[in-house]
Amino acid sequence: MSDRIDADFTGVESTMLITLYLRALETRSAEPVLNDPYAADLVDRIDVDFARLLPRGASGNRYTVAVRGRRFDDWAADFLARHPDAVVLHLGCGLDSRAFRLGPPPGVRWYDVDLPDVIALRDRLYPQRPEGYTALGASAAQPDWLAEIPADRPVLVVAEGLLMYLGEPDIRRLLGAVADRFPSGELLFDGFAPWVVGLTQRLAPLLDRRGLPHYTTATADGGVITRWDPRYRRLAAVPILDGLTRVSERGPRATYQALNAIPGFRNFYRLCRFAF
Ligand SMILES: C[S@@+](CC[C@H](N)C(=O)[O-])C[C@H]1O[C@@H](n2cnc3c(N)ncnc32)[C@H](O)[C@@H]1O
Repeated sequence: MSDRIDADFTGVESTMLITLYLRALETRSAEPVLNDPYAADLVDRIDVDFARLLPRGASGNRYTVAVRGRRFDDWAADFLARHPDAVVLHLGCGLDSRAFRLGPPPGVRWYDVDLPDVIALRDRLYPQRPEGYTALGASAAQPDWLAEIPADRPVLVVAEGLLMYLGEPDIRRLLGAVADRFPSGELLFDGFAPWVVGLTQRLAPLLDRRGLPHYTTATADGGVITRWDPRYRRLAAVPILDGLTRVSERGPRATYQALNAIPGFRNFYRLCRFAF
């Protein structure tokens, strides 16, 4: 009998298995951009046919997930070096090991937040509980749980692979609740252009058959965040292609360079950093 742990998810929760698998694949490549040994270990401990879960031809997305993870790790480390007593809200954390990869300063209070079933699985896979670390099963769309989080210090909100699955009212509610509660902070998120969101909506029947969700909201033009809540100002909105055109593997790099040269394509997906 296998002692691997079951992870029977569909819909938006299942997407965290795909990103985990992509990080594991990338970590096993010759020159990893991210290097996430936790992901490589977890895919061996979870009883899921990861290769089947991944849509055909999508293994190239390992570069995207790695470039995104690296960029967010660097921005987060920079914030924590300036605010070693910060609160971190890692929303839609899935099975990501960021808290363990970064090893935040001891004064940081780190909250890994995801939907309750995901956190229940996370608790089984990551039994370690470093000081200052909490895993919270709650929705980012109903942020009443923020009332339990210490609010006397700056906050870093990391929403990686999350906002595209939330509705606009949910994102507005979240932005408002965070900026109301904390004195200052930064928000890191990734966002797609409206045409990409529209494309996934047209592909919804196909995605549905695979138990996968389509995207709901476009935020690649980080400007919408400031329109929705003027307290947020943009620090950066970096096209993912900036990192992808530098990956070491020659074939994928040439593809990304060609895509980067197509007008209108460069900003299809951006990594954004905001402050309030
Ligand atoms: C694409 S995965 C990204 C997971 C992780 N950030 C990563 O990069 O591996 C999206 C995650 O968002 C979570 N999620 C979706 N809606 C959510 C909500 N309303 N509140 C909290 N988490 C949510 C899903 O359960 C899933 O773990």
